[in-house]
Amino acid sequence: MLIECEGLKTIRKYGLSTLTELPAWKNLQKHQRGAAQWRIRDLFAADTDRFERFSTEACGVFLDYSKNLIDEETINRLLDLATETDVEAWRERMFAGDVVNVTENRRALHTALRRETDKSLIIDDTDVMAGIDSVKTHMRDFSDAVRNGSWTGVTGKRITDIVCIGIGGSSLGPRMVTKALGPYADSSLKLHYVSTADGGMIGDALAKVPWQSTLFIVSSKTFTTGETSLNASTARDWMMQQSGGAEMIEKHFVATTADVDRAIEFGIPRENIFEMWDWVGGRFSLWSSVGLPITLAVGMDRFEELLAGARSMDDHFQSAPLNQNMPVILAMLGIWYINFFGIKAHAVFPYDHRLNRLPAYLQQIDMESHGKAVDRDGNTVDYDTAPVIWGKPGTNCQHSLLQKLHQGLDFVPADFMAAADPHTPMGDHHNVLLANFLAQTEALMMGNTENDIRTGLQDRGIDADEIEALLPHRVLPGNRPTNTLLFRRLDPFTMGALVALYEHKAFVQGIIWNINSFDQWGVELGKKLAGEMLADLDGDVPVDNHDPSTNGLINRLKEFRKP
Ligand code: F6P
Repeated sequence: MLIECEGLKTIRKYGLSTLTELPAWKNLQKHQRGAAQWRIRDLFAADTDRFERFSTEACGVFLDYSKNLIDEETINRLLDLATETDVEAWRERMFAGDVVNVTENRRALHTALRRETDKSLIIDDTDVMAGIDSVKTHMRDFSDAVRNGSWTGVTGKRITDIVCIGIGGSSLGPRMVTKALGPYADSSLKLHYVSTADGGMIGDALAKVPWQSTLFIVSSKTFTTGETSLNASTARDWMMQQSGGAEMIEKHFVATTADVDRAIEFGIPRENIFEMWDWVGGRFSLWSSVGLPITLAVGMDRFEELLAGARSMDDHFQSAPLNQNMPVILAMLGIWYINFFGIKAHAVFPYDHRLNRLPAYLQQIDMESHGKAVDRDGNTVDYDTAPVIWGKPGTNCQHSLLQKLHQGLDFVPADFMAAADPHTPMGDHHNVLLANFLAQTEALMMGNTENDIRTGLQDRGIDADEIEALLPHRVLPGNRPTNTLLFRRLDPFTMGALVALYEHKAFVQGIIWNINSFDQWGVELGKKLAGEMLADLDGDVPVDNHDPSTNGLINRLKEFRKP
């Protein structure tokens, strides 16, 4: 399934992963040859219990996975692979705080952040829960003070606007959750997210906020990320200009970081720094102090509900048998299509506009975690890893990208999700939304046959030649697999459970592929080159120290810049 290319040949010298030698892998390969001929609609016709057999519920989330190219044997064989790759033992290692991030010599303890604080977790002779508890108290005190108006800007004005500066994991999670939990938010606080180096982004935010009532949160685990440092400095300079001095910092700037010293060096007072730890991966950090924008928007009690939802998914993941374990099932269905059908993409369609940031969040979770071609032992893999994750909320997706899923040559497995109960009941809207939501997965599975189309066109009196000409264009092959997730309401608990579900799904896939899910070395080269490139962009003297294309582009930019 893996396309051979020069780059792979180069790294192949490090040895080959042995995953594809496992008996379960070979069995799945054999099994797939039969499954590739199946029609999902026929599987339903042959098994009246199929919906019950292939659906499960946990933590208020119901999963229907019956519209997949699977039978009972498929699931058993996939679970054999999970067993042969030691998923359960790795799961315990992660929860216990073992060093699962081997290339950075770190633990991945985001689950501790949502653990009950009175249940100790001893790491290196220290109870990490004490530190977590103390940061949570700090977050509560601070967000209460901002929300009740006792924390004010230097001029005594109540905070009205919060500019959240951070990128990647220091932005995607809080941005997704604050949007999702909009109905629970304090409407007198406006949140603005600034992430990229594009001056237009911070420029637009600063143009909107009154300095006297604006709070800046600088979120960066390392406190060295280029974009975040640049935006933080720009914000600080702007505030100094507006307020006439650096004294405003203690009332207008706070930081969330694992590097307290650097934040202090930047000028943020110690008491305005909300600590996190190197054992929280950036993309898994919304449960830590990185979630401060969430606590400011919806309050600490709601944040605790979010944590409780995630915790209940953690419990389910740790205790449910594999054949009823929702993260495991979703992960293995992904493995089935990626590794045995050669599918390179996975789509996510939330039928909830407040979940519009979910696809972007999942892109980081899946693609930064598993966009790798070397396994944990340094061997080159000869199987596909992270699919391309994409998606868009419904019903917008129906009017743009879903065409490809219905009639494209290859299929793209997709997750659809919706709440039974809307936060904003508006006449018939929710029923129309749900009707569209259900219609899509049905259409993707059932398709539209030649016979049905011919009959429909004949009924409309279209002449025979035209019908024959139209038929190939109008047939929808169907047999396109989907998962459907339903929940009662998109409340904080459900949101927490949903996000943890996808985190654990990604974790399981990382174990199957024997990949370290918690490092991201691939992003480093671009950062280094961008740093070096900066000097080359200065002035109007042409450069010749890069490859010909890059030289040409730099020199063309310099030409364009001339008056
Ligand atoms: O460049 C990738 C990355 O390291 C992500 O993994 C991380 O979430 C993001 O940058 C931001 O990093 P930091 O929180 O250290 O600023």
